[in-house]
Amino acid sequence: MPQFQKYPAGWRVLHWVMALMVLTLIPIGLWMASRAEADIWGALTNTLYSAHKAIGFSVLLLMILRIGMKIRLKSPPYPDEMPRRLQLAAKSVHHLIYILLVLTPLLGWAGVTAYPALGILGDVTLPAMPLVPQDEELAARLFYIHGWLAITLGVLIAGHIAAALRHLFRKDGIFQRMV
Ligand code: HEM
Repeated sequence: MPQFQKYPAGWRVLHWVMALMVLTLIPIGLWMASRAEADIWGALTNTLYSAHKAIGFSVLLLMILRIGMKIRLKSPPYPDEMPRRLQLAAKSVHHLIYILLVLTPLLGWAGVTAYPALGILGDVTLPAMPLVPQDEELAARLFYIHGWLAITLGVLIAGHIAAALRHLFRKDGIFQRMV
């Protein structure tokens, strides 16, 4: 396998923790929204909503840390033999994923603020997003955009996973940088 330089340890940990969170959030989001659509309410639906809101808000907070890391630490350079166009494509997808990892939870948070449905568990509630009025119609529009952003994020992540697996099977060292 060619020589490669790994991402810093904290960066790798954050990558896999957040990957697990987002890969949990998407199926939970689809499941709870389909239960709400079918008018199925009860303990399970409530738990799904609570878990989704808590994990989603944590993703938003962790993104602050992640963007800070991305600005302060340099990602290891790609090997010279990797075509420039592929390097550019990889970087563009990564930047788009970063943007969606901020916009998607922001829209979800704005939606639960407008609805309002900020409760998570017992007395624990999320803070309301500043400047967002209470308005159910607005909440519906925000949730609609939130859903489409999440689907777009899911498609990009599927492409990202496919590319990562290709590097794993080609044993070119790119996958190992993040392990
Ligand atoms: C990266 C973070 C997030 C991802 C990937 C994500 C993903 C999703 C997905 C796939 C859906 C289903 C959409 C649909 O079928 O219409 C959904 C719905 C929902 N999400 Fe998120 N979500 C995230 C963050 C958040 C946050 C931070 C909140 C609130 C604090 C939130 C609140 C909601 C709510 C309330 C719904 C249901 C909307 C409805 O019933 O129409 N989400 N989310």
